[in-house]
Amino acid sequence: MKKLITFSLLTLVLGTSAMPTTSPAASESSPTVLITGANRGLGLEFARQYEEAGWQVIGTARKPDAATDLKNLGVTVMQLDVTDGDSVAQLAKDLDGRPIDMLINNAGILPSQNTLTETEVDTVAWILDVNTLGPLRVTQALLPNLGAGDRKTIINITSGLGSIAQNQSGRFYGYRESKAALNMFSRTLAAELGGDGFIVVAMDPGWVQTDMGGPNATLTPEQSISGIRSVIDSLTVEDTGTYRRYNGATVPW
Ligand SMILES: NC(=O)c1ccc[n+]([C@@H]2O[C@H](COP(=O)([O-])OP(=O)(O)OC[C@H]3O[C@@H](n4cnc5c(N)ncnc54)[C@H](OP(=O)(O)O)[C@@H]3O)[C@@H](O)[C@H]2O)c1
Repeated sequence: MKKLITFSLLTLVLGTSAMPTTSPAASESSPTVLITGANRGLGLEFARQYEEAGWQVIGTARKPDAATDLKNLGVTVMQLDVTDGDSVAQLAKDLDGRPIDMLINNAGILPSQNTLTETEVDTVAWILDVNTLGPLRVTQALLPNLGAGDRKTIINITSGLGSIAQNQSGRFYGYRESKAALNMFSRTLAAELGGDGFIVVAMDPGWVQTDMGGPNATLTPEQSISGIRSVIDSLTVEDTGTYRRYNGATVPW
């Protein structure tokens, strides 16, 4: 209790962007989830739903001061650019010693790249940096926190476009490679950490109405994230290293 009062006073003095705030619904015994890219789109919906479910939610944003919707949820907001090693190191430093039950590597980009001729190599490098190296950096930095958590769960938000088996239509250069490589990262991580009770899953959210998915997408963020949360609730260590869809279906690699 004393710790909570001290924490609340510090929050009042320093303000929300400088100091993590804890959802009123969550208690110190609630599980903790950290979501990257939580200021909009699927990340914001993850934060909203887990906060509503009583979890302690840490939502990261590149620009916390501008993350109004995320801050309005009353969750902890922390700065993170997944391409910036210093930003990742600072996050890990600020969270040193705090157990994290689940990491959702959600931040991602899809700059439009259609045919091979239209594809710019520098843009592909940028996509790989965010979508593939980002989750590697963040997972590596937060591994001690995850190891100290009860659930030891890592959800890498991939895409159906990362499936090599299902790639019939081509296009989306860079993005497809980045998610296929993220899938391989998930499998490799699952193999390495499986013996320690970790659950690592590559999760395809479906086609969702966000800035990335556009207005014609078939799912609302609420539908996609509700589905993913049900899948996550059902996961056991037997499921580590799987590639799943928001509705629980297994996606061929
Ligand atoms: N929407 C779909 O249909 C769909 C389908 C399959 C997979 N996905 C995947 O789902 C995830 C979320 O997508 P979304 O639809 O929610 O996309 P979105 O609406 O475009 O949001 C992307 C999020 O990623 C953040 N981000 C971008 N670059 C970052 C960086 N360098 N460091 C930290 N955060 C960064 C953005 O922050 P800023 O606001 O600062 O840019 C934003 O919060 C992505 O991994 C995406 O590939 C989406």
